[in-house]
Amino acid sequence: MTRRVDQDEPAARRASRTLRWPSFWDLAYAAGDHLLYWDPPATPPELVELLDAGLIPRQGTVVDLGCGAGREAVFCAGRGHPTLALDRSLPALLHARRRARDAGASMLCCQADVFAPPLAAGCADLVLDRGLFHLLPRRRRPAYARRIGRLLRPGGHLLLRFAAGDDPEAGLVTASEAELDRLFPQPGFHRHPPRSITMTAQAEDLPAQAVLIRRRARRAEPAGRRWSPAPGKPDRRRRPRG
Ligand SMILES: C[S@@+](CC[C@H](N)C(=O)[O-])C[C@H]1O[C@@H](n2cnc3c(N)ncnc32)[C@H](O)[C@@H]1O
Repeated sequence: MTRRVDQDEPAARRASRTLRWPSFWDLAYAAGDHLLYWDPPATPPELVELLDAGLIPRQGTVVDLGCGAGREAVFCAGRGHPTLALDRSLPALLHARRRARDAGASMLCCQADVFAPPLAAGCADLVLDRGLFHLLPRRRRPAYARRIGRLLRPGGHLLLRFAAGDDPEAGLVTASEAELDRLFPQPGFHRHPPRSITMTAQAEDLPAQAVLIRRRARRAEPAGRRWSPAPGKPDRRRRPRG
C-alpha cells in the first residue's frame, strides 16, 4: 500500500531510487508505511519520564540509533539536548529532518550503519534504540552492544525498547534478562529491571520491553537512582494487532 505522507515524499522517493538497492526500510519510509507500523504518534512515555527524572544531564548529548522518522530525536533536540539522529535509510532521515524543521528543533542527521557509526568514543550521555535491536539476530548483538558501550560516556545511559516476544514473520527477536546481562555485563554496566510497555503506531500496538542500562563511571560505583515510573503504563489505549 502507498500513502502520501507530506510534501517531502517525492524527495524521499527520488532519494530511494538513487540508492543501488533500496532496502525494505527505504521503500517503507518512501510509502509512508512507518506511520502505520512503528513510528509512534506521540513521544513514547518512557523517554519523557526518563528525561523528566533528571538522570540525563540537561545538556547531555543524545544519539538515536535507527532513528527512523525521528520522533524521539526531535523530542530530545527540542528539550535542548545536542542530538544526533542516525539511520541507514536516507528516506527515513528526510522525514526526520522535516519533523525537526516543523518543530523548530535543531539536530544532526547522519546516514550510517549502527555497526560503523562515524562517532567518537564516549560521545553520548544517552543512546536510544527503539525497535532496531530486536531486528538483529542474536549472533550480531554482542558486536552491537560493544559499539553502544564505546559510544556511551562513563555514567551514560542506554534506553532500549524491543518486542516482548519473538515474531518470526516480522523478523523480531526478543531478549531475555540473561542475554542482556551477557551483552552489558557487570561491573561495567548497571541494568534496571525491564518494564512492560506498548510500542504504539497508527495500525499496530506491539507489546514490548523497555530497559535502561547505565555504563558505570567507576567499577565500585553504587547502582544509582531508581528508574521506576508507573509500572506497565502503556503508551495509549491498546488496540488489537493486525
Ligand atoms: C522499526 S524502525 C524504528 C525507527 C524508530 N526508532 C522508531 O521508533 O520509529 C527500525 C529502524 O532501524 C533502521 N536500521 C535497521 N538496520 C540498521 C542498521 N544496521 N544501521 C542503521 N539503521 C538501521 C531502519 O532503517 C529503521 O529506520
